[in-house]
Amino acid sequence: MMWQWALVPLAYLMGSVSSAVVVCRAMGLPDPRAEGSKNPGATNVLRIGGKKAAAITLFGDVLKGVLPVVLGKALGVEPMLLAMIGLAAFLGHLFPVFFGFQGGKGVATAVGVLAAFSWQVGLALLGTWLAMAAISRISSLSALTASVLAPFYVWWLSGDMAMTATAGLLSVLLVWRHKGNIQRILSGTESRIGQKKKAA
Ligand code: G3P
Repeated sequence: MMWQWALVPLAYLMGSVSSAVVVCRAMGLPDPRAEGSKNPGATNVLRIGGKKAAAITLFGDVLKGVLPVVLGKALGVEPMLLAMIGLAAFLGHLFPVFFGFQGGKGVATAVGVLAAFSWQVGLALLGTWLAMAAISRISSLSALTASVLAPFYVWWLSGDMAMTATAGLLSVLLVWRHKGNIQRILSGTESRIGQKKKAA
């Protein structure tokens, strides 16, 4: 049904709400776009504001991926449209209309989109992130590993080709958004989880 396509711009608008910026403003913390890694995401909020602020940010960023996909599923939209709804929420986080199109890297929102699509995929991504975090203590490396595996998990656990293609696009965009992190990982200067300040 044509009206269901309205869920695409709605998902984009939901994705455009930067949880990190909103949480930091509400809690009187510095702007995450100007501190630490300068990324408006939960990892950077953990650095500058601590666990509580980071947990709320993470919850908000996951939720804005979950909600539009759950809504689409509840309305019985076709697979291609569901994939576009998920992509729109993710793009909202990367290029938020409410924040001058200067958004984050999209890890939490991508997890929200894919977990709402398939809880098995969500579990696989969470397990991958946790395993890599336990080994490396590096958030970005954990996110990159889960990102690269995401399209394979979606294909393997759901067989849905529209969402597999979307997960592939998400993966490419996630790696691109982490290019600074990749350089720091390779040079051994990427900060570890729990480390207050970003290494130079
Ligand atoms: O979710 C973003 C994370 O992978 C890296 O964040 O702040 O270390 O660049 P950050």
